[in-house]
Parts: sequence; C-alpha cells; structure tokens
Amino acid sequence: MKKILKFKVNGDEYEIGVDPWRTLNEVLRDELNLTGTKLGCGTGDCGACIVLVDGESINSCLALALEMNGKEITTIEGLSRSEDNLDPIQDSFIKHGAVQCGFCTPGMIISAKFLLSKNKQPSTEEIKKALDGNLCRCTGYYKIIDAIKNVSSNKKN
Ligand code: FES
Ligand code: FES
Repeated sequence: MKKILKFKVNGDEYEIGVDPWRTLNEVLRDELNLTGTKLGCGTGDCGACIVLVDGESINSCLALALEMNGKEITTIEGLSRSEDNLDPIQDSFIKHGAVQCGFCTPGMIISAKFLLSKNKQPSTEEIKKALDGNLCRCTGYYKIIDAIKNVSSNKKN
C-alpha cells in the first residue's frame, strides 16, 4: 500500500504516494521525471545515481524513497535552472572536456559539489578519494580531476 512521502527536491515541495519498496532513484526518475540522476548498477557500485540529501551525498539506488520524508534533495537539475547559468563545476567539466558519453557526469558533478562543500581546496589525492565511488568508462578520469581542481581555489596540488 502506498504511503505519503513529503519532501523537497531542488527547492520544490512534493507530496506523493509511494510504494514502500521504491527507491529514491525510481521516484526521482519515474515519478518526478528528474532523469538527470542515472541508474547504472543499482547496487551502490558505480555512483551514477548520487544525489545530495540534506547536503550529504548518497547513492539514490540504495535509499528507500520513504526514508526521505522531510528531507531536502538536490539532483543535477537543481544545480542550474538554465544553460546560461550553469554551476561553476558544470562549466568547468565542459571547459576541460571532462564529459564524453555523459552517463557518469551527474553523479561525478554531485560528488564534486559535495567535496567542495566540505573542502574548498582539495588536493589531487583528496579529489581521487572523493570520486572513489564514481566510475567512468570513457574519460580516464584525468580531465574530471582537472575540472574539479580548476573550480576549486587550489590549482597547485
Ligand atoms: S546506480 Fe547507484 S551506485 Fe550504481
Ligand atoms: S563520460 Fe562516459 S562514463 Fe564517464
């Protein structure tokens, strides 16, 4: 039987009926049509599904949607409302060629956002560690690391 889920996503309030077994990823993608958040492995291994919940990064494929009651979610769509007004991390990914097929990109950018919210000047090692739950099969990671380094205020490490 469906239960009521009240939460905020990208600043908008939602109140919807949700089956208890549905994941946050399913509700974001299938109910709210926020398909920027990807579903890759579905088992917590690839990071394509990462979103922020009350500012903390989580794998949305592993979280039950009903656990999100009263919480505030940020997905990739919440970082910018138009192509003319991208988040600096999004801009930097484009400028550094850090996007190829793009499947990993929303999760990578949310992970970078989380890292930079805690550490404004991450070293290369810290960036690598922050991305250890995000898999990319295209870029070889170097351009992603460059993009994150460039947007942080520390470009020396
Ligand atoms: S889809 Fe969630 S970690 Fe891969
Ligand atoms: S850009 Fe293709 S998986 Fe990362």
